[in-house]
Parts: sequence; structure tokens; C-alpha cells
Amino acid sequence: ADIYAPDRRAAMGWDLDDRAALHALETAVAEAEAEPEAGPRLAIEPLGGPAPINIANPSTGARVGSVREATPEEATAAFEAATVWDAPAERRAEVLVRASDLMEARAAEIFDLLAREAGKTRADAVAELREAVDFLRYYARRGTELAGPPRGRIVCISPWNFPLAIFTGQIAGALAAGNAVLAKPAEATPLIAALAVDLLHEAGVPRGALQFLPGTGAALGVPLVSDPRVDGVLFTGSTGTAQSIGRALAAHAAPTSPLVAETGGLNAMVVDSTALHEQAVRDIITSAFQSAGQRCSACRILYVQSDVADALLDMLFGAMDLLRLGDPSDIRTDVGPVIGADAKAGIEAHIEAAREEGRLLKQVAAPEGGHFVGPAVIEVGGIGQLEREVFGPVLHVARFKADDLERVIEDINGAGYGLTFGLHTRIDNRVQDVLQRIRVGNAYVNRNQIGAVVGSQPFGGEGLSGTGPKAGGPSYVVRLAAPGRRAAVE
Ligand code: NAD
Ligand code: ALA
Repeated sequence: ADIYAPDRRAAMGWDLDDRAALHALETAVAEAEAEPEAGPRLAIEPLGGPAPINIANPSTGARVGSVREATPEEATAAFEAATVWDAPAERRAEVLVRASDLMEARAAEIFDLLAREAGKTRADAVAELREAVDFLRYYARRGTELAGPPRGRIVCISPWNFPLAIFTGQIAGALAAGNAVLAKPAEATPLIAALAVDLLHEAGVPRGALQFLPGTGAALGVPLVSDPRVDGVLFTGSTGTAQSIGRALAAHAAPTSPLVAETGGLNAMVVDSTALHEQAVRDIITSAFQSAGQRCSACRILYVQSDVADALLDMLFGAMDLLRLGDPSDIRTDVGPVIGADAKAGIEAHIEAAREEGRLLKQVAAPEGGHFVGPAVIEVGGIGQLEREVFGPVLHVARFKADDLERVIEDINGAGYGLTFGLHTRIDNRVQDVLQRIRVGNAYVNRNQIGAVVGSQPFGGEGLSGTGPKAGGPSYVVRLAAPGRRAAVE
């Protein structure tokens, strides 16, 4: 029984540079390929609804599987059938840890589905599974520090860009505190989410404590957050959607229900003239283009000191030419597709407008077919020129003079978001000075600015980027407990 005690075991790793290990993994992934059919998982018999719809692979358009979306009537029934998880906290923790083990045991299937449903490269898929496992184990441990009743019914609404990690993390946080969860995945990625729910049920989470309601934001998300019986909403997605959920909560009978919203950003990186170019370029490539730029944490604007800008950008463009775009199931691929046709059209329209204005400095060619967008660099005067978060492989670049750093930091703060920030410098005093003034949730120095690690780097923003508490941090599960409960200090 001890192996299921809430523990500090690190998530399992996969060394993708080890040829023998990689061969074994790829063989297992190839054998895992299946055509899953997902539908609502409720505490009652499903009421029936529309015909299943196909989920298409963003790289090829091929059918991945199908989903029968839940109806608003099923959402209402799910509220009625929801029951808080009244097992002792230690028992809940044990079940969540067991679910993390089941996830690791199904790694090959999960990597395959993450590639085919969400366009995740193998490296991204490994990181995503590890993050989901870390969330389960970390929140399990945090849950055991609580005493007293849960809040009640928590609606979890997640995005497609972390269809396993964020989906699982929200649910694990709410369950660790003993709540009943109604989980709605993003419409683009219900298959991997359904698998996660099945593993949580298999591990021992009662059906009444975790119900799965796949569907669109308009058809299902709105009724879920508008139901007066909701005791809290965990939301990750765009800032606009968070604002509309906030209005829905404020309008109904339980306006004190908390909204935990983790949203988008206009994330900046500053590179000064003392930075090591090779290191900065590697970290810019990772921050802006890994996951095809589809991370809330991704670098959207690079501020580079004028005296080194031309040399640094030359090196950046050379490195961009080495990026391999294509099928994310191919281990050699660096950049996979964006999630769908609408996403691709929106990103390309932004790049096209810059091209027409003579501000497109660089774009890598994209493969034909599939929803691929070639990574692009666009020149701008500053962050004030960015009208919105362009959620794809697009980096904006602004130059600044040595004396202007203070103004640059003010401009970044003034944009209103505050998610991630990167700084490349070899001046110690500057690190202290900038970090004291920049207003963001996660700041990184002389490294990339993505991939926060659960427990070590709690993740979340301020301003338009989120409400807190940070995901993967000590206060997340506490927020989901009934008011008045306190966590023991470790
Ligand atoms: P989105 O806001 O369009 O959708 C997110 C979820 O909300 C989906 O499940 C969707 O169906 C649902 N939804 C949409 N409208 C709704 C409504 N009116 N009421 C209730 N639910 C509704 O976001 P997306 O395109 O899926 O994801 C990308 C966005 O997520 C980006 O802005 C990105 O920055 C952000 N994001 C933030 C974080 C973070 O931790 N801060 C992490 C990942 C993604
Ligand atoms: N937590 C994710 C990251 O840090 C979004 O990239």
C-alpha cells in the first residue's frame, strides 16, 4: 500500500537521445494506434444526444476517433447526480497517485493520441504526460494537509493546447480537496481527455465525483458556468472567455463562487548587449516556436539591444532555417501543426498583414497540406503595437537603446498582461533591478521562458493573464477547499 501513499516520486522520464530506448518507445507507440470513441461519462445513464462527430488529425486531416458531445440536459442531470468525494483525504490521495501510475503505464497510447489529436511532437508529449503525473502526485500530497469539508461542485474547463496536463491538473486539484467535478475538455481534444477520465475512474475516483461532459464552449460551457449550483470554476483558456465566465458567475445565484482563471499573455523577452548570443538564440527558438508557439507562456515579443540586434537576428534566422516542420509523430520533427484551419487562417492573416507593411523579417517555409504555419519574425516598434495574443509560431521583435531599458519594462508592464518574462544578460545588478520591477507571474533569467515544473515553479499570471492561485503551487488546493480551511505549513 505504501507505493500509493502521496509521495514525492518524480514523473518517469524518457531519454529520446538514447537510440535503444527510443526504438522501444516508437515501436510501442506504433502498436498503440487506435480509433477511440469518446462520449459523456456521467453518474447516471447518458440521456442520448447528437450523433458522434469525427476528430481530425491536424497534420493530415485523417480521422483520429469520434466523440458524442454531451447535451445541456445532460449537464443539468450531471449537476443533480454530482456527489462530493467524502473519502478520507489520505484515501483520495492514494487514488490520485494510483491514477498517475496508470497514466505512466499507458504512456505509448498517450503519446500517440497527443500527436494525432493535438499535434504534439514526441518531446512535447513526454513533457505533457510528466506534467499530468506531477499534478496528480503534487495535489494528492497537498490534499492530505487539509481538514474539513470541500466546496462542492466544481466546473473544470480546459484548453486544447495542454489537453492532458491542464485537463488533469484542474481535476486533480479539485478532487484532492474532495469536491465533485464536472469536467469539460476543449472541443478539439476530447479523446485524450476521455482517456484521462477513464484512468481516474479505474483508479477509484467515484463516478459522482468526476463526470465528463465533452462539448463546445457555446453549447455546454455556457450552461455549466451559468448553473446556480456551481460552487467554483477552474478555467484555463483565453482572457476573453475568462471574462465572460466571470460575468456568468456574477449574474447567478452563487456569485461568491470562486473563478480561478489562467489565461493568455503578451510575453516578452529582453536580450541586452552582454548576453551570450548562442544561448539567447537557443532560448528564443524554444520560447517562441516550440509547440508551434501554442503555449500561453510562449515568447511573443523579443526586445533586443540595438547594438547587437543585427548580429543576434542573423544567428536567429540561421537557427530557424534548421527547424524541421512536419508530422509530430516523427521523432525528428521540431515544430508540428497548429490546432486547426481557423487557427492557421488567423495566424497567417497576421503574418500576411505584416508582409504587406514590409515588417516581415523572416518566415520559414511550411510543409504542404495539414495545418502547418512556418515560424515567422515580425518587426515592431514595441509591445504597444501588439493588438492581441497571436497563438502560433510568430515572434515580434523590437530594438531598444541601452538607455531605454527602464522604459521597455514600463511598456511591458503597461500592456496589462503578466504571465511570463525572459531576461538574457550577464549583468548581475540588472537581473535584480529588472526582476524587482517586472510584473509577471513567472520570470526566467538566461534560459527559455516555457515549461514551468509543477511544485518547483508554480505557474500563473497576473492582470489580464490570470487570477491566481498558481497551478502547481501550494495554495491551489487550499483555494478549492471550503472557505475557512487552512493548509498545514510544510
Ligand atoms: P478558449 O478560451 O477559446 O477555450 C478554452 C475553453 O473554454 C474550451 O474548453 C472552450 O470550449 C471553453 N469555452 C469557450 N467559450 C466559453 C464560454 N463562453 N463559457 C464557458 N466555456 C467556454 O481558449 P483556447 O483557444 O482553447 O486556448 C488557448 C488560450 O488558452 C490562449 O489564450 C492561451 O494563452 C490560453 N492558455 C492559458 C494557460 C495558462 O496557464 N495561463 C495555459 C494554456 C492556455
Ligand atoms: N505551464 C506551461 C508552461 O510553462 C503552460 O509552458
